[in-house]
Amino acid sequence: MIILGIETSCDDTSVAILKEAGGKLKILSNIISSQVNLHAKWGGVVPNLAAREHLKNMMPVLDTALEKSSLSFKNIDLIAVTRGPGLIPALLIGTTTAKALSYLHKKPLLGIHHIEGHIYANLLTDKTGIARSGMSNTKQKIKFPILCLVVSGGHTQLILMKKHLNYAIIGETLDDAAGEAFDKVARILGLGYPGGPAIALRATEFPSRQAGSKFKISLPRPMIDSDNFNFSFSGLKTAVLYETKKHPHLLKNKKYIAEICHEFQQSATDVLVSKTIAAAKKLKPKTILLAGGVSANAELRSQMKRAIEKNFKNMAYSIPDMNYSMDNAAMIAAAGAYRWKSLKNKTKLMSAWKNLEAEPNLKLS
Ligand code: KG4
Ligand code: ZN
Repeated sequence: MIILGIETSCDDTSVAILKEAGGKLKILSNIISSQVNLHAKWGGVVPNLAAREHLKNMMPVLDTALEKSSLSFKNIDLIAVTRGPGLIPALLIGTTTAKALSYLHKKPLLGIHHIEGHIYANLLTDKTGIARSGMSNTKQKIKFPILCLVVSGGHTQLILMKKHLNYAIIGETLDDAAGEAFDKVARILGLGYPGGPAIALRATEFPSRQAGSKFKISLPRPMIDSDNFNFSFSGLKTAVLYETKKHPHLLKNKKYIAEICHEFQQSATDVLVSKTIAAAKKLKPKTILLAGGVSANAELRSQMKRAIEKNFKNMAYSIPDMNYSMDNAAMIAAAGAYRWKSLKNKTKLMSAWKNLEAEPNLKLS
C-alpha cells in the first residue's frame, strides 16, 4: 500500500510517500521545506506568514516527493494529512490541499493527529526496511504496553499505549511545553529562534561541572519529586529570567551564556528523564518511546538511553532518527497506515474530502 502524507501544522511544509509492506513502513521520499529563516526575524512563528509560505511551497514539495519516489498519483492508495493540533492558517493549507487531491484523484483521505504522527515516527524504516530509529535497543522488539514521552513545541505528555492507536495521558505539562521553554529561554538570552538547537549548541561550550562552574548557576528541577507524572516548565523559564536580571551585563559573556544554557538543558533533561523512569517503574511498560521535536536534543537522547539501560533489564526503547524527531510528513503517513488498518468501513474515506476539517485544538483519542 502507498500512502501520501502531508504536514503543515506549524512552519514546515512537508510531503512524504510511504510504502507499507509486510508490516514495514518504508519511506520512499520525505521532502521538508523549512521556514525557519523567515520566522527567525520575528523571534517565533507568525501564523499568517507561515500559511503564505505553505501555499507557495506546497506544490513544488508535492512534485518533488512524487518524483523522488518514482511514483505518480495513480500509485497512491491513501492520503493522510495533519488535521490538528496546530496553527489554523497553516493547517488549512495542508487540509485544503489534501481534500482537493482526494477529490481530483478519487483517493481515500484520512485526517491525522499531529502527536500520533510523532509517536509513529518510531516505526519508520528506510527503503530497504531497516529501522530509521536513531537510537534503540535492537535486541528488543517494540511491544505493548508502550510508555511514550512526547516533547514538542506545543506538548509535553507521558502517554500509555496498551495497543495501537490507544492513548491514555498519564501526565502532562501544567503550563509551558518543554520546547516552548527552550524557545522562551533562548529569547531571554538573545539566541534567536528556534531556541532548542541554539541552546543545545551553546550548552556544548560549557566545559563541565567537574571542570568548574565559574558562575555557580543553579536552576530548579520543577515537580521532579511530585507524586504524579505532570510537568511544569514555566517556573524554570522564570528562574532563568531572574538569573539574567541579577547580572544583565553578563548577557554578552559567552561563558555565562554557555553555563546558563547547560544548566537549563540539564534541568529540563533531569525532570523529563526522572519522570519517565518513575512512570515506567510504576506502569511496567515493555517499551519506552520518545517523540517530538525536543527528542532531537542530544543530551536528552543519551541521558534517557543511559537511564533506561540502568533501570530496566529488558526494556525495548526507541527515539526517532533526528530527521524524523522534528515535524515531517513521513510520520503522518505512518500513523495513517495504522489508522487505515484499524478501520472497518474504508469506503467512507472516499468522501472524507467533503467534511474533513482542520482542528487547531484537536485532542488525542
Ligand atoms: O515537534 P516539533 O518540530 O514541532 C511541534 O510540534 O511543536 O518541535 C519543535 C520544538 C521547538 O520548540 C524546538 O525549539 C524544539 O522542538 N527543538 C529542540 C531541539 N530541536 C528542536 N529542543 C531542544 N533541543 C533540540 N536539539
Ligand atoms: Zn511537531
